[in-house]
Amino acid sequence: MGSTCVVGLQWGDEAKGKIVDLLCDDHDVVVRYQGGANAGHTVVHEGVTYKLSLVPTGILRSHVHAVIANGVVIHPPALLKEVAALEAQGVSFQGRLHIGDRAHVILPYHLEEERLTEESSSAADHLGTTRRGIGPCYKDKVGRVHGVRIADLYRPAELREKLKRIVDFKNRLLAAMLPDFEPFDAAAVAEEYLEHAEALRPYICDATAKLHECLDAGKKLMFEGAQGSLLDVDHGSYPYVTSSSSSAVGTAPGSGVPARYIDRWIGVVKAYTTRVGGGPFPTEQDNEVGERIRRVGREYGTVTGRPRRCGWFDAVATGYSARVSGSTEIAVMLLDVLSGIDELNVAVSYERRGETVRTLPASLADLEECRPVYETLPGWKEDVTAARTWDDLPKAARDYVEFLGKKVGVPASIVSVGPDRNQTIRVPKAL
Ligand code: GDP
Ligand code: IMO
Ligand code: MG
Repeated sequence: MGSTCVVGLQWGDEAKGKIVDLLCDDHDVVVRYQGGANAGHTVVHEGVTYKLSLVPTGILRSHVHAVIANGVVIHPPALLKEVAALEAQGVSFQGRLHIGDRAHVILPYHLEEERLTEESSSAADHLGTTRRGIGPCYKDKVGRVHGVRIADLYRPAELREKLKRIVDFKNRLLAAMLPDFEPFDAAAVAEEYLEHAEALRPYICDATAKLHECLDAGKKLMFEGAQGSLLDVDHGSYPYVTSSSSSAVGTAPGSGVPARYIDRWIGVVKAYTTRVGGGPFPTEQDNEVGERIRRVGREYGTVTGRPRRCGWFDAVATGYSARVSGSTEIAVMLLDVLSGIDELNVAVSYERRGETVRTLPASLADLEECRPVYETLPGWKEDVTAARTWDDLPKAARDYVEFLGKKVGVPASIVSVGPDRNQTIRVPKAL
């Protein structure tokens, strides 16, 4: 008990990184349990910006241990680059980063496999992924025949043999499908990854055992979700999702820590909605409102730099993901971005072929036919970035936050009014 899970309830980029960083004061270990370098978590502290992708956000706090658990897919060059960049910013990894030896490894052919679908002449094949090799690596993991795990990198003879077999298979497949494909040299790939393995050696461990040791010692863990619940492979807007369990249901399979140890389940939401990549987005505002939100909220992807699609808050989709993720509270982020908009719309149900829909339909075609039914709330003119207490917020802003909590089905406990750690408001318990 005493552990916390922080997940996004929308389509990612809800500012999970800021919340994880904020709550580090009360936690000893931060755990990434799924996803990979497709994540981009930003933390701003005293004007300095830190960008984290594979490394758990907790690494920024010197008392915290950071664990990359078995459910994560790891691209060693990306991880080493990130470690070097953070070290250059003064972050110390000494004895504090732990990488699970059961985690799967992203290899160069995964990136080519992703290029194959993302650049296919059939638009139906494009998902608008981050092109970090995530989907192909998870496919190999679940397919079992071609999966390579971190532990495999420390058995050189077997690794060379294994890669010979896999690379031969992948080369034949990719050469047949990609006209400009340059075949991989299995031996060269093996040598490159053996070198990465040496660089990563100090961090490798049995992550599940490590986490259970921490629990036995009474340490408090924080599970840092990547992506968002609506991108969950089982529960999201399939097939426009990521390849992992990115809702809170992923904590146990990804870490080996049963959910019963977690008693605080924080669902992070933006005060509006964004989405990057393809897929349905009922409340999208491809107009002046959407452009304003993009401009004020600087809504461009951390990983790929792509402009994020922007729209109104969707309490149908978010209510659904709060139920799936078992949220006990929500953190409402980027509230400041809505200042100056006269009226704010919130989708409270959908209408489809004359019928009211109150949850997310499974079929993409059904979801695309859903039209949001909005409730309109008054906006506020004031800049709220300097607000530090609930009472500092204009009444319309407080009413808006309260309304979101009611419609999502769990109360707001935290409100964020700017990227910095101190631009945060704790909502009084009485709400
Ligand atoms: P994550 O992937 O969920 O961690 O979110 P990202 O880091 O990709 O995107 C959130 C962005 O919003 C980052 O650039 C944060 O610095 C920024 N941010 C976080 N909270 C606030 C806030 O309350 N207001 C504003 N304006 N920006 C915020
Ligand atoms: P964080 O942790 C927003 C999206 C991609 C694409 C889909 C599948 O920063 O919130 P993938 O590369 O995972 O196969 O892409 O998922 N996506 C994200 N969108 N934030 C993220 O991470 C994302 N990670 C993946 O844009 O639509
Ligand atoms: Mg992000």
